[in-house]
Amino acid sequence: MTFKLPELPYAYDALAPYMSAETLQFHHDKHHLAYVDNGNKAMAGTPYESLSLEEICKKAFAEKNAPLINNAGQHYNHLHFWQWMKKGGGGKKLPAKLQAMVDKDLGGYDKMRTDFVQAGVTQFGSGWAWLAVKGGKLEVMKTPNGENPLMHGAQPILGCDVWEHSYYIDYRNARQKYLEAWFDSLVNWEHVESMLPK
Ligand code: FE2
Repeated sequence: MTFKLPELPYAYDALAPYMSAETLQFHHDKHHLAYVDNGNKAMAGTPYESLSLEEICKKAFAEKNAPLINNAGQHYNHLHFWQWMKKGGGGKKLPAKLQAMVDKDLGGYDKMRTDFVQAGVTQFGSGWAWLAVKGGKLEVMKTPNGENPLMHGAQPILGCDVWEHSYYIDYRNARQKYLEAWFDSLVNWEHVESMLPK
């Protein structure tokens, strides 16, 4: 497949004050666009072109294709990152099926939140914090750079970008504050549940 930059599903200023219009303009218009362009260049004329984005992520990781691990991975991650946020998001009211899995596998909402924020804080350098389903169970994960849970045999259902380009304008170096505000005020739990394996 050819990668294409999607439109943001909301206005640039919709997520303020938790994520500013300036951050979204740089993050979406410059950073995500670069992953799209560099991913397309890395795939040109290769068998990757005929695969789905999910298949590209897995194959690139299996073949240690660094340009595609990072650029296809980041295209996948950002496509969903925009959807994992909404104006008026966050809060403890989760859709029922998701809530049941959080209670069963992650010790309830408060423990999940603590563990997710901790995963993001302890990811050294750039990367992502995740909720992902592996072997039918929900897990908190973290990955470096452009990697994602697809590359580690899991289905991501929520990811938070902890690259500095996602928070430095609004939070400077306070990564934990960003993660907490993101989790409490931006997460689109309906999109999270929609990504649960059927
Ligand atoms: Fe990013």
